[in-house]
Amino acid sequence: MTDPGAAAFWEERWSGVLREHADVVAQRPPSAYLTSMDLLPGKALDAGCGHGAETLWLAERGWHVTAVDFSAAALTHASAAAEAAGLADRVDWVEGDLGVWAPEQNHYDLVVCLYVHVAGSVTEMVRRMASGVAPGGTLLLAGHQPVDPATGAATAAAGQVQVSVDDAVGALGGWTFLVAEERPRVAGGGVDAVVLAQRP
Ligand SMILES: C[S@@+](CC[C@H](N)C(=O)[O-])C[C@H]1O[C@@H](n2cnc3c(N)ncnc32)[C@H](O)[C@@H]1O
Repeated sequence: MTDPGAAAFWEERWSGVLREHADVVAQRPPSAYLTSMDLLPGKALDAGCGHGAETLWLAERGWHVTAVDFSAAALTHASAAAEAAGLADRVDWVEGDLGVWAPEQNHYDLVVCLYVHVAGSVTEMVRRMASGVAPGGTLLLAGHQPVDPATGAATAAAGQVQVSVDDAVGALGGWTFLVAEERPRVAGGGVDAVVLAQRP
C-alpha cells in the first residue's frame, strides 16, 4: 500500500535536515544492531536506507548493496557520500516505495529494514522484505514502538506503524530467530522492536 502523504513528509523532512545539517547527518553512525553482526560480505538490501549510514558501512566492508528509499533528497545525499568514499560501484540506489516495491526473490544474503514506517499491513511488508532473503540468509528488522512500556507515554513514533516483534515473528514461520525482543533505545527514549532472523 502506498501513502503519498508519507512520501511527501519524508522528502520535506530530508530536504530540510540536509539543507541545514548535512554535516551532522554525515556523522551519524550506522546502527549498532547492524555493526554488532559478524557476517561474511555478499549481497545486501538496505530497505529505507535514508542518509545511507548502514549502506556505506556495508559497502566499506565489501558488500554489494541495493539501497532503497522514496526520498530523492536522502538518496542524493547518500549516493554523493558513497561516491566521495570511492564506493559508488558497490551500491545500486533505487528510488522506490517500500509499500509496494518487491525485492528480487531469494537474492540477498542480508536484508536490513530499520525504522521504516509501514502504510499497510506489517505482516505483508515483513513477508515481502523476507522474500528477498536467499536460503540461509539473514533478515534484520527494527521498529521504534509508539508507546514507552516503562512509562506508558507516547514516544516520538506515536501514531506511526513500524515493525513489532509479534508481527515479525508471526510473519516468518519456519525461520530461526537469533533476536526477537524489545530493547530500550540507545538515544531518545522509548523502545525498539529488534528482530534478527535466518531463513532456513
Ligand atoms: C527513520 S528513517 C530511517 C533511516 C535508516 N534506515 C536508519 O535507520 O537510519 C526512515 C526512512 O525510511 C524511508 N521510508 C519510509 N517509508 C518508506 C517507504 N514506504 N518507501 C521507501 N522509503 C520509506 C524514509 O524516507 C526514511 O529515509
